[in-house]
Amino acid sequence: MAAILKSLAIFLVIARGAYGECTLRNLQVRQYGTGKSLKGYHEYSVSIFNKCNELCVQSNVKLNCSGFQTVEKVEPSILRVSGDVCDLNNALPITSDATVNFRYAWSNSFHFNPIFSDIHCYKS
Ligand SMILES: *[C@@H]1O[C@H](CO)[C@@H](O)[C@H](O)[C@H]1NC(C)=O
Repeated sequence: MAAILKSLAIFLVIARGAYGECTLRNLQVRQYGTGKSLKGYHEYSVSIFNKCNELCVQSNVKLNCSGFQTVEKVEPSILRVSGDVCDLNNALPITSDATVNFRYAWSNSFHFNPIFSDIHCYKS
């Protein structure tokens, strides 16, 4: 009995350790200039990846959009600007095999910083 409890405890610690690695920092933002210009502004393409363990989704993702401007319309269901904060993907979960992509155009690139997400890890 004690042996079973002990191995169960070890298993739980390991499982928790693996899930515990998923944080806001695992949302990776990559962008590049597309080389196109729009109304005289440079166009940029942004991809946001959830690099967490495959069992962990991140929803309700918010980015710091303080100072963000664009002359290219961005679909609000992908990136909704509200004041200094942007909601990503309509607050819907981003799984680890999914990326969220959008384009914008301005005189310089903007650094999108994730500031909030709800993380949910499923058991296998
Ligand atoms: C958002 O970015 C601005 C400008 O870089 C910064 O001053 C502010 O503290 C940031 N807000 C959060 C919540 O990180």
